[in-house]
Amino acid sequence: MASTSSLSAVLLLCLAMTASAQLSPTFYQTTCPNALATIKAAVTAAVNKENRMGASLLRLHFHDCFVQGCDASVLLSGMEQNAIPNVMSLRGFEVIDSIKAQLETMCKQTVSCADILTVAARDSVVALGGPSWTVPLGRRDSTNANEAAANNELPPPFFDLVNLTQSFGAKGFTVTDMVALSGAHTIGQAQCQNFRDRLYNETNINSGFATSLKANCPQPTGSGDRNLANLDVSTPYSFDNAYYSNLKSQKGLLHSDQVLFTGTGGGTDNIVNNFASNPAAFSSAFASAMVKMGNLSPLTGSQGQVRLSCSKVN
Ligand code: HEM
Ligand SMILES: *[C@@H]1O[C@H](CO)[C@@H](O)[C@H](O)[C@H]1NC(C)=O
Ligand SMILES: *[C@@H]1O[C@H](CO)[C@@H](O)[C@H](O)[C@H]1NC(C)=O
Repeated sequence: MASTSSLSAVLLLCLAMTASAQLSPTFYQTTCPNALATIKAAVTAAVNKENRMGASLLRLHFHDCFVQGCDASVLLSGMEQNAIPNVMSLRGFEVIDSIKAQLETMCKQTVSCADILTVAARDSVVALGGPSWTVPLGRRDSTNANEAAANNELPPPFFDLVNLTQSFGAKGFTVTDMVALSGAHTIGQAQCQNFRDRLYNETNINSGFATSLKANCPQPTGSGDRNLANLDVSTPYSFDNAYYSNLKSQKGLLHSDQVLFTGTGGGTDNIVNNFASNPAAFSSAFASAMVKMGNLSPLTGSQGQVRLSCSKVN
């Protein structure tokens, strides 16, 4: 059993590497030389108009890549968008659609929606003061989506450390990658229904922090379910390492955030300590884990298609 599953893990990794080896940062250099500058300008404008948009675009890329790879399946109307983690929660589709429309006038049917989303995630992080990295390109778009896989493979906020480790491990991520990627919660917001249990039922929560959040997230379930709170209570619009200091003060908003730091020195406590005290260590771990995320089973070559409109297949 163990050797069968490690063998399949090795085979999966080889497949993933073969596919990502076909991606290249210069993929659009001759076919659409202004693609990257166009995406960056549009993302910067969208984030300047509404700071939260940076968080929303970053999360869209994550929810794309974790479900049958980075293939823009999450952008197809309906389908994955109706899955529990996504419905009435994902946002930013109109920003991607508008970038796509601009690129279609510049270079017809050339730049894929999956690549636009991958670059937009990076540019969002940069627009909010976070690290930059080079994005390999050449992904193509799926002709299908998978709502069941979105329900099964996106981690829910009530997961414990063992479940998060398993969920990210299944996609080839190390525990350090998983802790670094969770640092994306240094920006953006969550709905009361996703942290109410933590406010009223958990003990590893700072009491002043819990009290201040309860005002806008009442018990019982039903009222205020969709009221929002910042995932990073200290610097919500800066892509920095404050998320990890929050965890050390028991001010993680989601259960799945706080499980990364227990204070007992076990689990992932030392990774959190390192990222909290060493911003450069966090930046470099986050950037490399994002490249890894972007390399999850891309469609390349003649697979899939380059959509004309990101919300529907051609
Ligand atoms: C570790 C497992 C993770 C869990 C359980 C999780 C769960 C959640 C939940 C429940 C929300 C709030 C959704 C809502 O209330 O509408 C959220 C928001 C967010 N997540 Fe995660 N997430 C995880 C990992 C990640 C990763 C890996 C990224 C990106 C690299 C990410 C980026 C974000 C961002 C930026 C937001 C805010 C979005 C916005 O304000 O529009 N998350 N996450
Ligand atoms: C987390 O994983 C453990 C061990 O595999 C399992 O018993 C538990 O039910 C899982 N919890 C959730 C919320 O899925
Ligand atoms: C707290 O836990 C109890 C017992 O498991 C449950 O009945 C109750 O609904 C929970 N409260 C909230 C706000 O989640």
